[in-house]
Amino acid sequence: MFQIKARDGLGKIGKLEINGKTIETPTIMPVIHPDPDKQLVPMETVKKLADVVITNSYIIYSKPELREIAEKKGVHKLIGFDKVVVTDSGSFQLSVYGSIDVKPLEIVEFQEKIGVDVGTILDIPTPPYADRERAEKEMEETIRRGRESLELKRENNYKMLLNGTIQGSTYMDLRRRCAEIMGSMNFDIYPIGAVVPLLEKYDYKTLVDVILNSKMGLPTNKPVHLFGCGHPTLFAISVLLGCDLFDSAAYALYAKDDRYLTENGTYYLEDLKDLKQFPCSCPVCSEYSPREVYNMDKKEKEKVLAEHNLYVTFEEMSRVKEAIREGALWELVELRCRSHPRLLEAYRQALKYVEFIEKFDPVTKKSGFFYSGYESLFRPEVIRHKERIHRIRFEKIYITTVSKDVEKPYSENLKILPSDVDILVKDDVFGLIPLNIDLIYPLLQSEVPELYDIEKSHNKKFVKEFIERYKDRIMDIVTYNYYISYYNSKENKKKINSDIIKIDRMLQYQYGFKILDEEVIKRIIVRRSKRTGWIRNVLIVKDGEKKVLFTLRSYDNFLIPTAEGAKLLHSKIPYPKYRVVVDRSVERFAREGRSVYAKFVVDCDRDLRPYEEVLVVNEDDELLGYGTTILNGRELMEFNYGVAVDMRGGIS
Ligand code: GUN
Repeated sequence: MFQIKARDGLGKIGKLEINGKTIETPTIMPVIHPDPDKQLVPMETVKKLADVVITNSYIIYSKPELREIAEKKGVHKLIGFDKVVVTDSGSFQLSVYGSIDVKPLEIVEFQEKIGVDVGTILDIPTPPYADRERAEKEMEETIRRGRESLELKRENNYKMLLNGTIQGSTYMDLRRRCAEIMGSMNFDIYPIGAVVPLLEKYDYKTLVDVILNSKMGLPTNKPVHLFGCGHPTLFAISVLLGCDLFDSAAYALYAKDDRYLTENGTYYLEDLKDLKQFPCSCPVCSEYSPREVYNMDKKEKEKVLAEHNLYVTFEEMSRVKEAIREGALWELVELRCRSHPRLLEAYRQALKYVEFIEKFDPVTKKSGFFYSGYESLFRPEVIRHKERIHRIRFEKIYITTVSKDVEKPYSENLKILPSDVDILVKDDVFGLIPLNIDLIYPLLQSEVPELYDIEKSHNKKFVKEFIERYKDRIMDIVTYNYYISYYNSKENKKKINSDIIKIDRMLQYQYGFKILDEEVIKRIIVRRSKRTGWIRNVLIVKDGEKKVLFTLRSYDNFLIPTAEGAKLLHSKIPYPKYRVVVDRSVERFAREGRSVYAKFVVDCDRDLRPYEEVLVVNEDDELLGYGTTILNGRELMEFNYGVAVDMRGGIS
C-alpha cells in the first residue's frame, strides 16, 4: 500500500498505509527505548515530530517487566505512542553479541502478539568486508528465515506488516541477488541491513554501492528503509538514491557523547560553548545559550542535546521533502556533499550509476538545473539530453558557438533567418544545444557559472562523436556574434516559418517521433503571446476551424497536448511508444478523463520516464485519454496501488 506523490532522482514523496494509518515518506523513525525510564527525549516532543517510531522487540522480549506490559496492553501502551510502531528483531544485538536467546520465528510471532505495526525478521547482519563464504552463507540463512517468517505471517493471517532485510555484506552481486530473491517474496518494506559499520567508518562510497545494488534488485513498489542511518548529513543523498525510511538512535547516542548534530556535520558542545547563540533556532536552542547547556549536569545536558538533535533531524528531512516537491533534490545533495570529502566521494560514486538512476528521474522539474561543480556534468538531466538529441531527425546541421554576452534563450535573442538548417550551439554542460529546442527544460532552465578549462573540455569528445555521426549533414556557414546568416538550400524555395520548424523539432525531442508531416504542417498555426512575444499555442486548421493542438507549459516549455493534440500524437507515434495500456474494466473512466490507477495498467512503453505526457489506450490501441504519468515504465508494471497517470482529459 505504497504510492508515489512527487519525485526527484530515485527519491520520492510517498504515502504508505500501515494498518489503516497513513504516513508520508521519506521520514525518520526515532529509536525509542522500550523502557520509558531510559527514554531521553520526552514522548511529547517525539509525538510532535514523528508519525512513526521504532523500538526493539528483543529488549521487550527479554525483560520480564516490559514483556508483561507489552503482552497485556500492547507495545503502543508500553512506550506511550499511539501512531505507527515498528520493531526491530534483535538482529542488531546478534551482530554485537554474536548470539541471542530467541528463535527466528519466535521473535516474529512475539512482535505480532504485542501488536506491532511493522515487525522485522531475525536477519543476520554480516559486517562489511566479511569473507565471501560467510557473507553468502549468512545471506542464504537470512533468506531462509525470511521465507519462513512470511509463511508464518500468511498462515496465521498476521495484521502486522513485515520487514525483509537485505544483506550480503560488501559483495555487490550478493546484495543484488539477496534483493532479487527477497524482492520476489512480497515483504511489505525492504530494509537495507548492516550498513552501520560503514557509517561509523565514513565509508559512504561503499554505502552508495550497497544502496544502489540493493535498489537494482528490489521491486519498485515497496518502500526501502536504510537501517541504522540517522545522521542528517546523509538524508539528502540516501533519499536521492531511493531510501524512504530512516531510523535514528543517533540523536540520543550523540547526545550521550556531548555532541550536537547539524545537517552539515557534528560539533562537540565544548567547541560551541563560547558562542552567544547556537547555530539553530529549534525550541531548545532558542531557550538556552551554549554556555548554559555546557554547565548543566550530565543527565540534563544529554536530554537537552538529544532534543535538539531530534529537531534538526526532522528539520533536515523536511528540507529534503521540500526539495523533492520543487525538483531540487540534486541541488540539495550537491550542497550537502560539500560538507565532507567522503560525502563528495559518495556522490561521485552515485553518478557512476547514472544510467540506472536516469530511468527514474523526472523528465521535467519545477526548479531549474543549477550547476554546482564538475559532478553536475554527469547528472541525469545532462545524460538524457545527450541521448534525446538523437531523437531529432536532422537533415542539415550547422555547429557554432555563441559569444558570452548573448543571453539565453539564444533562439529568441539572436537574429536568425528562417532556414531548413538546424543550428547547434556548443555548450559546456549539455554538449550541443539545437537552437530550435533551446526553450525546453533543462536547456533554458539551467544556471551555469563560467567554467574552468577542465570543465569546459569535458564535452569535446561528445561533440567530436556527434560530428562524426552526422558528418555528411554538417554545413559550412558564415556567422557573426549576434547574427547568424546562412543560405537556404537551393531546393528549399518554399517560404519557411521558423516557428513551425521549432515546434517540429521540439515535438521530436519530447516524443521521439516525427509528428508534423507535410500535410499537417500546411495547416499549422503557431501563436505567440501578444504580451511576452513567446510561443504559447500550436493550432491546426480543421474543417475551417482553428483548434488548439498543444500549449507550451510556461515553466518548462513542454508541448502539452489537448484532445486534438493527443489524437495527432496517437496517429504518429507507433505502438507501444508513449502508451499506457489499461484494462477494459476502466475504459469508461479513462474516457471520462478520470485518473488511471496503477492496478489497471496492463502494458506500457517500458522506456517511459516519470512526468512524461502519455496516451492512455485500451488493448486494441484505441485512444481513451491523455495525461501525465507519475511512474516510469518499470513502475507502471510493478505498482498495483495509487494513481499511475494524472489525466488531462478523456476521448469519448
Ligand atoms: N539495525 C541496524 N542494522 C541492522 C540490520 O542489518 N538488521 C536489523 N534487523 N537491524 C539493524
